Parts: sequence; C-alpha cells; structure tokens
Amino acid sequence: AVERTFSIVKPDAVGKNVIGKIYSRFEENGLRIVAAKMLQLSEEVAGGFYAEHRERPFFPALIEFMTSGPVLVQVLEGENAIAKNRELMGATNPQEADAGTIRADFAESIDANAVHGSDSPASAAREIAYFFAASEICDRA
Ligand code: CMP
Repeated sequence: AVERTFSIVKPDAVGKNVIGKIYSRFEENGLRIVAAKMLQLSEEVAGGFYAEHRERPFFPALIEFMTSGPVLVQVLEGENAIAKNRELMGATNPQEADAGTIRADFAESIDANAVHGSDSPASAAREIAYFFAASEICDRA
C-alpha cells in the first residue's frame, strides 16, 4: 500500500553537505518528498521527539548530537514507504549497515548515523504530526 513515513537528515549529514545525495537515494528508490524543512532543533523539541528513549543511557548524547546543528525533516511517500526507507537507511549502527545503504555510505557512528526513519505506522503518524501541520504536506499523486 502507499504509505507515508517520517525522515530526518541528521546534523552530521547536513554538515557533510550530502543532503542532495541522501534525497537522491529516496527519489531513485520510489519515494517522493511530500513535505520538507530545515530546522535547528531545541533541546525541548528533540527531547519530545525522542521521548521514548528518555531513560536510555544514550539519551543525553542523542539530544546533544541532534541539537548540534541544523537538520532536515521530511515526509516520504511511496509503496511500503516505512520499510523501504528503513531498507535504504541500513542498520542503526553504520558498522553493521549493509553496503550501499545510506548509513554505510554517509555515517560514522551509532550517534552520528546520518538519518532517522520511522519504524512503524504508529510512529510514522506520531512523528509526521510532531513536525508538520496537515497544510504543510503536499499531495503529489
Ligand atoms: P534513531 O533512529 O534516530 O533513533 C534513536 C537514536 O539514538 C538512533 O537513531 C541512534 O542514532 C541513537 N543511538 C545511540 N545509541 C543507541 C543504541 N544503543 N541503540 C539505539 N539507538 C542508539
């Protein structure tokens, strides 16, 4: 089915100037960008987004990293978009990511791992609504 998923190009990838290369991976693999913006996340916004990880030991480092520079947030649309985007990203830890994935090609570490993507329909709905009003998402069909 045609789905929407939420994606972040993280500060490491923005800093390396590979936004376009990452967007090309989406576009070359059947995903359309239907909403996008660049943002500097505050600690409050980053903390709310990653609220489920609040008790994890890596949470402080995650928030520090995600607020260290601008990010791109986008909504991707396409057939099986949630699983497709996760396949394109590769494993969370770039050292474990398959060759040819975004994280294998552009990421350095589990913290600076280039991209985020929703892991389920429920998180996609929550994450899209966290960053975008309905009026900011365009119908491109
Ligand atoms: P992301 O998909 O954005 O969701 C949470 C992030 O926390 C994850 O990508 C990683 O960048 C980061 N992280 C750091 N350490 C871990 C860990 N041990 N397990 C999962 N995520 C981690």
